[in-house]
Formats: sequence, C-alpha cells, structure tokens
Amino acid sequence: MVGIGRLNHVAVAVPDLEAAASFYRDILGAEVSEAKDLPDQGVSTVIVRLVGTACVELITPLGEASPIAAFLERNPKGGMHHLCYEVGDIIAARDDLIAKGFRPIGSGEPSVGAHGKPVLFFHPRDFCGTLVELEEV
Ligand code: CO
Repeated sequence: MVGIGRLNHVAVAVPDLEAAASFYRDILGAEVSEAKDLPDQGVSTVIVRLVGTACVELITPLGEASPIAAFLERNPKGGMHHLCYEVGDIIAARDDLIAKGFRPIGSGEPSVGAHGKPVLFFHPRDFCGTLVELEEV
C-alpha cells in the first residue's frame, strides 16, 4: 500500500520568481526563503513557509530545458503546478502505484528534490488531473 502521508508542499509555477516572492512576503506577510537554483530539476525555487507543516513552493524555469517551460507557455501568469505528498518508503510506494496502473514521469527512478530528499512524479491523468510528487521523509 502506498500509505500516502502529509501534504508537503503545493508548487506554483511563476514567470517572475522575485515578484512572486515579494507578493507573498510584502503583501501577504509570509516568511519566504532566499531563491535557490536547482539545476538538476531545471527550476529556481523560493519556499513560502506557512503555519503548520506544508509550504508553498514557488518555481520558475532555470535553463533551456526546464520541465516547467511548457507549463508557463500555457499559463503565462503562472499556476498551480503540482502537489507533493510524503511517503515513508518511496520505492514501495512507487511499486505499489505502478502495479495499480499509475504512470511515473521519466525513468521511474527517484531523483533528489528541492529538500534534498528522494522524489518521484506521477502523471496527472492518473491523479484526478493533478501532477503529483511523492517525497520520502
Ligand atoms: Co515539488
């Protein structure tokens, strides 16, 4: 069984990371991190810390082959990009989902995500139309 856990973050793709960070910090009064480049993921990211455990992750394309470039072409003002759920064992969760017919994005091998933990993405078609990231905690 997958054993889906807590919501870890909601990722919002934005065309202008500094403008979005300023919006959350200066208009909404949230605590936001410094921008961090994640070349392996093809994004730059800012974490918006919220009360509780989940956060909002602002992501903007980094480099030529960013996986979110096409998303921003379709959604030029930005938009909700994915939900990230925590799991205890990402390999067990992956194998369980694949056995149930879910489709991982890419090779199906976990990569290292924004928080230094193993992550995997699953196709939105199998998840009620929402791109889902699993993060092992
Ligand atoms: Co994410």
